[in-house]
Amino acid sequence: MRIDVLTLFPAMFDGPMTESMLWKARDRGLLDLRLHDIRDFTTDKHRTADDIPYGGGGGMIMKPEPVVSAVETALSDAPPNTPVILMTPQGRVFSHQIAKELAGCERLVFVCGRYEGLDERVRQLVITDEISIGDYVLTGGELPAMVIIDAVVRHIPGVLGACWAADEDSHAEGILEGPHYTRPTVFRGLEVPAVLQQGDHGKIQRWRREQGLRRTWQNRPDLLLRARLTDEEKYLLAQFADDQAAGQTRAL
Ligand code: ADE
Repeated sequence: MRIDVLTLFPAMFDGPMTESMLWKARDRGLLDLRLHDIRDFTTDKHRTADDIPYGGGGGMIMKPEPVVSAVETALSDAPPNTPVILMTPQGRVFSHQIAKELAGCERLVFVCGRYEGLDERVRQLVITDEISIGDYVLTGGELPAMVIIDAVVRHIPGVLGACWAADEDSHAEGILEGPHYTRPTVFRGLEVPAVLQQGDHGKIQRWRREQGLRRTWQNRPDLLLRARLTDEEKYLLAQFADDQAAGQTRAL
C-alpha cells in the first residue's frame, strides 16, 4: 500500500513512522509512505502557506493553491477513486471498521490541516473523505493521520506476526478483549487464572469470550448495543448484572 501525507510539519512523522511495526512494514515493502511538505508547493519566496481569513476573525487559514497542487501531484499516478482524506474534528469518527475499509485501498492520501483550518475550496476541489479521531480538537491533523496510518497498516497482510491477529483485536467483533498473562505464574501474590494454565483450548476460548464480555460490560456498555451476541452471552450479561445487584463479583 502507498500512503502520501501532505503536511506543513513532515518531521513530526520521524519517530512514530520509523519504529516498531510501522518501520517493519516499510522495511518489508508492505508500506510505501511518502511525506510531502506543503511548503514545497508554494510559489512565493517566503514559502507562504497561510493567510488571514476573509470576513475577519482570529487565526490563519491554509491557502488553497499549495494544498491543491500537493494533492494533484500525489494523485498524478494514482488509480481513480483514491481517497483523499482530510484530518479534521468535523469528519466521521474513526473506528476499527473504517481502518479495515481503508486497508483495502491500494493508495491513500492524507491532508493534515493546521491553523484555524483550510480554505473551503480545497474541500470542494480535492477532498473525498473527512475523518476525526474523536470529539476533541488537536493543534493539527498530523497526530490523527499517524493514528490512522498505524491502525490501517496493522490490517495489511504480513504486517502483524500472525495473519489472524488483527481480527482478534479489541473492537474487531464489537466487544473488547479480555486480560492477557505471561510468565511468571505468580507475580506479587497474583496468580494466572487456572483455566489458562490447564491447556483445554475450548475452555480457554469460552473463558476469554466471557472475560471480554465482562470488560465490555464494565468499560464500554455502549458497544453491547451493537454487538452480535449468542444466547449464552446474553445470559452471561444478565448474570453480570445480577452479580452486581447482589453486590458480589462472580468467581472466575
Ligand atoms: N485536527 C484537529 N483535531 C482533530 C481531530 N480530533 N481529528 C482529526 N483531525 C483533527
